[in-house]
Amino acid sequence: MSAPNKSYDPVEVETLKPEEIERMRDEALAAIASAADVDALREVKVAHAGDRSPLALANREIGALPPHAKAEAGKRVGQARGAVNQALKARQEVLEAERDDRVLVEEAVDVTLPYDRRPEGARHPLTTLSDRLADIFVAMGYEVAEGPEVEAEWFNFDALNIWADHPARTMQDTFFVQGKEGGKDGEESGVVLRTHTSPVQIRSLLDREPPVYVICPGRVYRSDELDATHTPVFTQIELLAIDEGLTMADLKGTLDHMVQSLFGDDITTRLRPNYFPFTEPSAEMDMVCYVCRGESVGNPDRPCRTCSSEGWIELGGCGMVNPRVLIACGVDPQKYSGFAFGFGIERMLMFRHKVEDMRDIVEGDVRFTLPFGMEI
Ligand code: PHE
Repeated sequence: MSAPNKSYDPVEVETLKPEEIERMRDEALAAIASAADVDALREVKVAHAGDRSPLALANREIGALPPHAKAEAGKRVGQARGAVNQALKARQEVLEAERDDRVLVEEAVDVTLPYDRRPEGARHPLTTLSDRLADIFVAMGYEVAEGPEVEAEWFNFDALNIWADHPARTMQDTFFVQGKEGGKDGEESGVVLRTHTSPVQIRSLLDREPPVYVICPGRVYRSDELDATHTPVFTQIELLAIDEGLTMADLKGTLDHMVQSLFGDDITTRLRPNYFPFTEPSAEMDMVCYVCRGESVGNPDRPCRTCSSEGWIELGGCGMVNPRVLIACGVDPQKYSGFAFGFGIERMLMFRHKVEDMRDIVEGDVRFTLPFGMEI
């Protein structure tokens, strides 16, 4: 601010002289007109219309003038500031419109260009199905358990009550990695590629205190030839529940829940007596054919390819855990009981998605995998 105004005449205050105000205004208008873009105009605005601009500073001088002079000086400065603000606004609109037009041109996307053709890949449908099955049980409070694929014979057979002379142990079924005789002195167990996921039952029981609720998905190996319906490497999913008071009714309810989650509310299961060394009683489990729902049975006009008109689809094995298995794992069979089931999911993938040849599942050709998409 300048020194007190002795003469009380606005003309005497240098910054309030009409030609000074005019000069400030014209300078401002020239700067506004030459601002090339919105950013430049922002700077011009600060310099010529901001708090420290010449016109704003001149405006402050008015307060020191006598009343009659105030009005005249106020009008002059006010008009100049009004002209500057108007010019700023008009220029702002012009520059914004120019910028928008430029952005439209610069950022235009040519939608006719070919898109990126790199293949995206997809999860293998076996993984997706295995995850989905595991999810059903995780939602019921089960835990996912895993075990090694190269397994001690003791876990794969002995602990599961499969004795040394059991046919499943022979070379026709089992890939032996190291026989007992190959083991070091005193070693009791040979080493095999696991023939089923049941050894994970044993590992889970040894690792945890009951109650135990686990689901074990995993790869298993049997010395089969690879053909349309067999593969030496396949995927099983096995379930084990050990608690007080579990019965076969719990097993049946759990199986029904699983098939209903996958195939629809009206699908049920049935159990047919069977034998497994590690379960007693044991059963083979079937589910109602979800395609014909049994209507193809005895009805030649309506044959069903999914269940070969049998009305049922075989899933796998199940039963109440044999007390011998519980004892082998240090679980008291007087107090605890449990159920288990296991099945191969390649078969389920085959009938669920009409895959005709098992080799398609195994060979890893993306042309097979891609149509299943990137399901997460
Ligand atoms: N482990 C058996 C198999 O591989 C399946 C099974 C699991 C049967 C659990 C009963 C209970 O064939």
